[in-house]
Amino acid sequence: MIIAIDGPAGSGKSTIAKLIAEDLGLVYLDTGAMYRLVTLKALNDGILGDLEEIKKMLDNLNIDIKENSFYLDDIDVSEEIRKPVVSENVSNIAAIREVREKMVDLQRKFSESKNVILDGRDIGTVVFPNADVKIFLVADAKERANRRYKELVKKGENVKIEEIYENILKRDEIDSTRKESPLKKAKNAIEVDTTSKNIEEVKNEILNICSKYSICV
Ligand code: DC
Repeated sequence: MIIAIDGPAGSGKSTIAKLIAEDLGLVYLDTGAMYRLVTLKALNDGILGDLEEIKKMLDNLNIDIKENSFYLDDIDVSEEIRKPVVSENVSNIAAIREVREKMVDLQRKFSESKNVILDGRDIGTVVFPNADVKIFLVADAKERANRRYKELVKKGENVKIEEIYENILKRDEIDSTRKESPLKKAKNAIEVDTTSKNIEEVKNEILNICSKYSICV
């Protein structure tokens, strides 16, 4: 069974997907984190703007996901991949065709013979166009920036809300206008607006949708 949750940065995808996974006993895959791992590797190797080097790096890429922790070259970098420097560069890396091909391949392999909930930008359109349920989460950009700001401040990051807001708008623009698998709602996805809803309300709304597809707790 596959549940696809797509939507723009900060719409609440990962928070909600984790909760739904717990409730329905599914394995959760955060596909955005995979693009963040590639971005961190490119940053560490100092090859961010070098397309040819990035393509070469993909051949020896050593990434792993275990129990919602993310590993690069066998080191747990789950915290590092959320840093602003990664957020600022990840959309450009995620727009590279070869990067996407490799990630989509890994996402499909990861999901083989499992009941999975995946969140991302292209799950319902490209990775699993035949997913059992497709949700498209949206929220007002100011509200999304506010959520990210609170999350980062809680982690002790010194950030400015205006910069986060600008980064979200920039990422929306790159993610939805890129040539390769742009962010868009799949034709048969159900849109859920999370702007003025709390986590519990969104979770229940999605569980309700799932039950209509005979996917129940
Ligand atoms: O969900 P996130 O903010 O962690 O995603 C990081 C970036 O990765 C985002 O700018 C878009 C990209 N992404 C993508 O292109 N396709 C996915 N399936 C998931 C994320």
